[in-house]
Amino acid sequence: MNTQLSSEHLQLLEAAKAAAQATYSPYSHFPVGAALLTADGQIVKGCNVENISYGLTNCAERSALFSAISQGGQPRSFKAMAVFAPKVELISPCGACRQVLLELMAADALILCQGSDPAATRVWTLEQLLPGAFNAF
Ligand code: THU
Repeated sequence: MNTQLSSEHLQLLEAAKAAAQATYSPYSHFPVGAALLTADGQIVKGCNVENISYGLTNCAERSALFSAISQGGQPRSFKAMAVFAPKVELISPCGACRQVLLELMAADALILCQGSDPAATRVWTLEQLLPGAFNAF
């Protein structure tokens, strides 16, 4: 699967791996990192941040998106996101993140997902992640 990925996408996956190092996940012990590719080629990282009140946890995907928007990134301009989680063979974004990705990523964005098995890496479109979605745009 890796052979089909562009060097830009491989770099994004490396950034997601680095982002996972910053995880605050003392309850699940399940680190996740995300790396967002902005329209001007910058990479914005995010990790999962948990809380003793478990429902307040922020996933890595939403951390990266909210950080990018907070830094002035334009909603629906982001070209790709890589997500990395070392404790599963292949990570798959949760339903809440899929809805947020749909609204904030570019319509033709790609979501690259990788776990402990690089051969299992998947590249998803937003339509594949959330078909028939409730969509604002
Ligand atoms: N998590 C993410 O950050 N992204 C995903 O795609 C799936 C789950 C986090 C939430 C929680 O901190 C931990 O992983 C276990 O669910």
